[in-house]
Amino acid sequence: MNKKKLGNSDLDITNIGFGAWAIGGAGWDFGWGHQEDNESVSAIIRALELGINWIDTAAVYGLGHSEEIVAKALSLWKGNKPYVFTKCAQVWDKDKNIILSHDPDSIRKECESSLKRLKVDAIDLYQIHWPPRNNDDKIEPAWEMMAKLKTEGKVKWIGVSNFNVPQLQTAMKIAPVTSLQPPYNLINRKYEPEILPFCKENNIGVIVYSPMSSGLLTGTFSKERAANLSEDDWRSRSANFLEPKLSKNLELAEKLKSIAKKLNRNAGEIAIAWVLKNPAVTAAIVGARNPLQVNGVMNAADIKLNNQDIQDLEAFTA
Ligand SMILES: NC(=O)c1ccc[n+]([C@@H]2O[C@H](COP(=O)([O-])OP(=O)(O)OC[C@H]3O[C@@H](n4cnc5c(N)ncnc54)[C@H](OP(=O)(O)O)[C@@H]3O)[C@@H](O)[C@H]2O)c1
Repeated sequence: MNKKKLGNSDLDITNIGFGAWAIGGAGWDFGWGHQEDNESVSAIIRALELGINWIDTAAVYGLGHSEEIVAKALSLWKGNKPYVFTKCAQVWDKDKNIILSHDPDSIRKECESSLKRLKVDAIDLYQIHWPPRNNDDKIEPAWEMMAKLKTEGKVKWIGVSNFNVPQLQTAMKIAPVTSLQPPYNLINRKYEPEILPFCKENNIGVIVYSPMSSGLLTGTFSKERAANLSEDDWRSRSANFLEPKLSKNLELAEKLKSIAKKLNRNAGEIAIAWVLKNPAVTAAIVGARNPLQVNGVMNAADIKLNNQDIQDLEAFTA
């Protein structure tokens, strides 16, 4: 699998990384419905067998459960250890309410908890999951703490997720930002005009999330499937999986399917290949819930789309 250097780091990462959100399981506000832990562990191991060399998780995924599953898979994996990326700045209380927190002491505590759950000595990339949403919470003290954790060796590199350009600039005044993790797919291109070029100019690595729009672009969705998503699957409440957007998104998925058929691949792979062609993108984070799904999508980086196919796809998103 091809690799690229992530921003200013010494991490050579494969074009695709394993995304561990869905394997956090159900029982919290942003769960994906029922998920068997043994399937999750097998999915991670299958991705590593295929050559994937990094995993992206977050403390909040399954309220710690995803990090535990990653640790379980790593304990069983006999090959080279993959890089482990996780995220902070979202905590939860005893009633499972999720709270955005950029308090530096809280970030230090979160880091200690993630190290324990992941059973690693250091986190390869530690990312602020979301920027602050109110004026009492500030980027500067949070980013100072991230830089401190790096100096102390608890984390090797530091990055952010869901930040815009002014927010990146605020952090960059304090310490270099190794990477940005933005949403990016054929349905959501809002980071494309300004933020992705800024990252390229400033040597900030970009690992994009939801390249298949959380499953919607895999070609396995229909109106019926969307309507029957279980209540504890966050997608049942997401606008992209509901009308009026759903019909247009399914049309796009059909277009992906027709291109996939020509190339003897599947729609999800075409969606991933499209995000990887952006020169600012270092790699894509791809989620999968079992080994079969892994087999279906984790080799997508070798697909080269022609100009006509790219134009046809982008016509849906103009
Ligand atoms: N920083 C952030 O705020 C943020 C936000 C979102 C995601 N992320 C990261 O990015 C990762 C990837 O994003 P994502 O999980 O939202 O979405 P994604 O990679 O676009 O889609 C993953 C989903 O597609 C379906 N799928 C996967 N392989 C398939 C196959 N071969 N055939 C059919 N369906 C298949 C599975 O869901 P079903 O089988 O249930 O349909 C899977 O959970 C996450 O795991 C997480 O690490 C970060």
